[in-house]
Amino acid sequence: AQCWQSILPSSEGKMLQEDTGYMLSMRMHALFWQKWTEKEGKLRRVINHIQKCDVHKSNPLDPEVFPPADCLVSSFCLETVCKDQSSYRAALRNISSLLKPGGHLVLSGDLGTSFYMVGPKKFFCLVLTEEFLRGALSATGFAIQEFDVLSRDDDTMQEICDFSGMYFIVARKEKAI
Ligand SMILES: C[S@@+](CC[C@H](N)C(=O)[O-])C[C@H]1O[C@@H](n2cnc3c(N)ncnc32)[C@H](O)[C@@H]1O
Repeated sequence: AQCWQSILPSSEGKMLQEDTGYMLSMRMHALFWQKWTEKEGKLRRVINHIQKCDVHKSNPLDPEVFPPADCLVSSFCLETVCKDQSSYRAALRNISSLLKPGGHLVLSGDLGTSFYMVGPKKFFCLVLTEEFLRGALSATGFAIQEFDVLSRDDDTMQEICDFSGMYFIVARKEKAI
């Protein structure tokens, strides 16, 4: 419910509180997708290039070399592709090389996830904690500016994914490590 409310304007939030049951869920569903199709359209219009990336390489964009960026966004990626904590820290160092000193990393994903299902297929996920993330970012030259956690507030669908919450981080690259 916290997630839904945060994407709704306050007047819609109030209207939703007055609705009930089926209508409520239908309206939320419609509003959610309306917002996301708008966002998808906007994103598609501003993307002008897609580049392959491998976070395990010291230059993740190898063989290309791009000027360092002001901002880098990574979502639900590193924990699904790094097999352990040391490989996660190495990947952070690698992607940090794509950023200017003073540039920002916007990092988000799940806390506490050890697996997730896509249909019948089970995927590995490295279990992350807030403590580990804070340590790893600091060890790789980042200063955390925001660290928000949204805790999981129900136990349903544990068989799909065992996450305990979600994290949203903004960190500034202080130095190259
Ligand atoms: C769980 S998906 C997340 C996708 C998307 N960011 C999202 O939030 O829906 C993990 C992504 O990591 C990508 N990936 C796998 N190995 C990678 C690697 N070595 N370097 C960078 N990305 C990788 C996969 O292609 C996949 O898109």
